[in-house]
Amino acid sequence: SFEQSLRPVTLNQYIGQALLKERLNVYIQAAKTREEALDHVLLYGPPGLGKTTLAMVIANEMGVGIRTTSGPAIEKSGDLLALLNELNAGDVLFIDEIHRLPKPVEEMLYSAMEDFYVDIIVGEGPTAHPVHFPLPPFTLIGATTRAGMLSQPLRDRFGIVEHMAYYNTDELATIILRSADVFGTSISEQGAYELARRSRGTPRIANRLLKRVRDFAIVNGASEITDETVDYALKLLKVDKMGLDQIDHKILHTMIDFYNGGPVGVNTIAANIGEEVETIESMYEPYLLQIGFIQRTPRGRQVAPLAYEHLHIPYPNKE
Ligand code: ADE
Repeated sequence: SFEQSLRPVTLNQYIGQALLKERLNVYIQAAKTREEALDHVLLYGPPGLGKTTLAMVIANEMGVGIRTTSGPAIEKSGDLLALLNELNAGDVLFIDEIHRLPKPVEEMLYSAMEDFYVDIIVGEGPTAHPVHFPLPPFTLIGATTRAGMLSQPLRDRFGIVEHMAYYNTDELATIILRSADVFGTSISEQGAYELARRSRGTPRIANRLLKRVRDFAIVNGASEITDETVDYALKLLKVDKMGLDQIDHKILHTMIDFYNGGPVGVNTIAANIGEEVETIESMYEPYLLQIGFIQRTPRGRQVAPLAYEHLHIPYPNKE
């Protein structure tokens, strides 16, 4: 499908995350040389940066199979055992949102990760007895929006812990040009760069906006997406010149209009705009911090002068 072919298959095709790729390549080549499973990998960072894609690339480079699931999907230890039971030696088990694993499931993972076995209790009451269940060596790849949301014992069991960074404009433009190719749509270099600048450092957003901009080009009978097509479409989509959307604007305006720019707690902001705290903390705040529009203080978040400038609002006197 489109979605499948959008994803790179090899580390070489994977754009951006240069240092991370260089390190992973070493670990992968070494594991293959030793004919061992790759050490367990924890990938953390904001959503949409390609953690799932990278897990698939790792499995492909290792030449092993991959099973993918998510923390909330594994409800009971039995669900985890069923997944582990289907792995062949060296396979990857990918668990997205690994910070949302139920506690008993997480505890079962400890021995699975460390020594490749699980002990399960079979039967009930007086006939209950532990059964030792050996597993093939495997690689757990966990993904989470923030490593701090993981318990220490779980985090400690990952030999490879890597942060995914936002993509720069050049990287995003390259991804957009490649995706346009996959879609069979034509976009000018300026168009790709305009879209890249407004994709919040995030390939998932770039690819989603590219599809919408393509719709505008089709309806307008344009054979090529230009920077003007992008600007026209993103104006209608309420994505501003910096890529900020209506929720980013709601966050900044709530802080400015009701709290004099802060400091204000994230719970207060969430209650004001009707979004989940976790959504704000994982999706919105990291980018606003990254571009220097908000700052963290011990008493909460604060709107920075750069954001006032962008919004054409005079910076208030904070005496
Ligand atoms: N599509 C989404 N993320 C990508 C990446 N990092 N490299 C290549 N294509 C992508």
